[in-house]
Amino acid sequence: MDIQQVSWDDAEAVRRTTEINEAVRLFEQPWSHPYLAETTALSMRYGWDGEPTDHYLVTVDGTDVAVAQYETATYDNHHIAWFGVDVHPEHRRNGHGSAVLAFLLERARKDGKTSVGMDSWAMSGPEAFAARHGFERKQVSVNRRQRLAKVDRATLDRLHDEALAAAADYELVRRVGATPEAELPALAKLTEAINDAPLDDLEIDDEAYPPERIVAYESAQAGQGHVLHRVYARHRGTGELAGHTVVAVEGLRPSIAHQHDTSVVRSHRGHRLGVLLKTDMVRWLAETQPQVETIDTWNAESNDHMIGVNEALGYEILSRAYAYQRSL
Ligand SMILES: CC(C)(COP(=O)(O)OP(=O)(O)OC[C@H]1O[C@@H](n2cnc3c(N)ncnc32)[C@H](O)[C@@H]1OP(=O)(O)O)[C@@H](O)C(=O)NCCC(=O)NCCS
Repeated sequence: MDIQQVSWDDAEAVRRTTEINEAVRLFEQPWSHPYLAETTALSMRYGWDGEPTDHYLVTVDGTDVAVAQYETATYDNHHIAWFGVDVHPEHRRNGHGSAVLAFLLERARKDGKTSVGMDSWAMSGPEAFAARHGFERKQVSVNRRQRLAKVDRATLDRLHDEALAAAADYELVRRVGATPEAELPALAKLTEAINDAPLDDLEIDDEAYPPERIVAYESAQAGQGHVLHRVYARHRGTGELAGHTVVAVEGLRPSIAHQHDTSVVRSHRGHRLGVLLKTDMVRWLAETQPQVETIDTWNAESNDHMIGVNEALGYEILSRAYAYQRSL
């Protein structure tokens, strides 16, 4: 077996990686958006927020059989490495997944990691594979999609008006792209509220959000060609940032959007800010990005509050996924 690291600027290796990703997607989750070589290269180059993820292409006797990823965090959780292992559907049950996993585990040991994780769609095969290698299921997540043409506008307006009435002490601010430097410390503090999202049994420490991480995230998303739309709620009395929601519209495929963080700071909960922020986002996108057709989102299955808001806004379930973890 040959395990070769792939650099974003190696067009041929990126194309081969994308072919494996596409074969796996069509086999397991055909509803998800196709992988393109361009989006794969951009994602390899910039990542979510500039944190390192190494990508590997796995070949046996000259045939590409799998891809793998090795991701570590720089701002927190230094003890964890997170893996991706995807074996081409035609090459499964030949021990390739196990061999790739052994390679990733070895690297994590060398790097001094004490905990490792990986994810899969909610299917018995990958779960059996994970269990076979000592990983336990620690969280169930749900992938939902909002089809904007199907959103009932009267319901949206009603939810928005009710939320506005409950949130009279707050004003909304809309921003496209990078946050001005002067606002970064306040936004960094607000971003920490995502640590209240349930982690269930995952053994992951709170994430740290220094202002430089906000800059890194916004730059990485812009590098990938994603246009970030952020709506903040600001408390009129104190000027405090109380909550926000962020949606990224793809540059190469502007009909596709992705929901990023939505959070409301604990001391500002109970004023329907979650609904207000998300209904405002849908209205804003309809005005300025009318070509957006879908917004995809992920939530822990246990996140009742966020899911309640999403379901009111017409999000429909695509699939469930499992996160596994084990100690080293
Ligand atoms: C999960 C996955 C990586 C396994 O790859 P693979 O090359 O088929 O795995 P291996 O051949 O090394 O399997 C090792 C053992 O895991 C278990 N296993 C793997 N796939 C299984 C399946 N579909 N059903 C039941 N057990 C399975 C078996 O115990 C297997 O040993 P055996 O074949 O001797 O019975 C592959 O199915 C895949 O890429 N799935 C989609 C991506 C994914 O979910 N990745 C994350 C995995 S946590």
